[in-house]
Amino acid sequence: LVASMEEIEETYIMVKPDGVQRGLVGEIISRFEKKGFKLTGLKLFQCPKELAEEHYKDLQSKPFFPKLIDYITSGPVVCMAWEGVGIVASARKLIGSTNPLQAEPGTIRGDLAVQTGRNIVHGSDSPENGKREIALWFKEGEVCEWTPALAPWLR
Ligand code: TYD
Repeated sequence: LVASMEEIEETYIMVKPDGVQRGLVGEIISRFEKKGFKLTGLKLFQCPKELAEEHYKDLQSKPFFPKLIDYITSGPVVCMAWEGVGIVASARKLIGSTNPLQAEPGTIRGDLAVQTGRNIVHGSDSPENGKREIALWFKEGEVCEWTPALAPWLR
């Protein structure tokens, strides 16, 4: 079965500073690659405060917001754009619950993290936010459209 273009979504996945510091970048990328999704953007990046605040603007009023901004800007992150059929919800499943202690074993957070404030990875929560966040974190020309040779085996 070949998926129609309409079903293909984009999502923004980010290895947070603790994931980079702990040497989990390859492990995290690997989970999405093995699932069969397509990587379209990738960079190591030191996030400025203003960008972190824009990314998490919906959480502005939360008591943990200042700590969250300090955490995200505390060291380099790995920014990724991925695409695939149903990828937004699927990536959230692969990542697991926000609180890693409640995340199922087998998920990235369930296997590799303990604290909510150190939960190693981000994934967009809707197709709209996937587009918004990719546009926010990547410049024109940094996201690469390509046709995977193995696509018929995966879709
Ligand atoms: P949220 O968007 O609710 O979770 P998710 O990353 O699973 O989509 O929250 C964004 C981040 O804010 C979350 O990954 C970690 C941080 N956070 C806290 O530090 N404390 C909290 O109580 C919550 C809910 C989130």
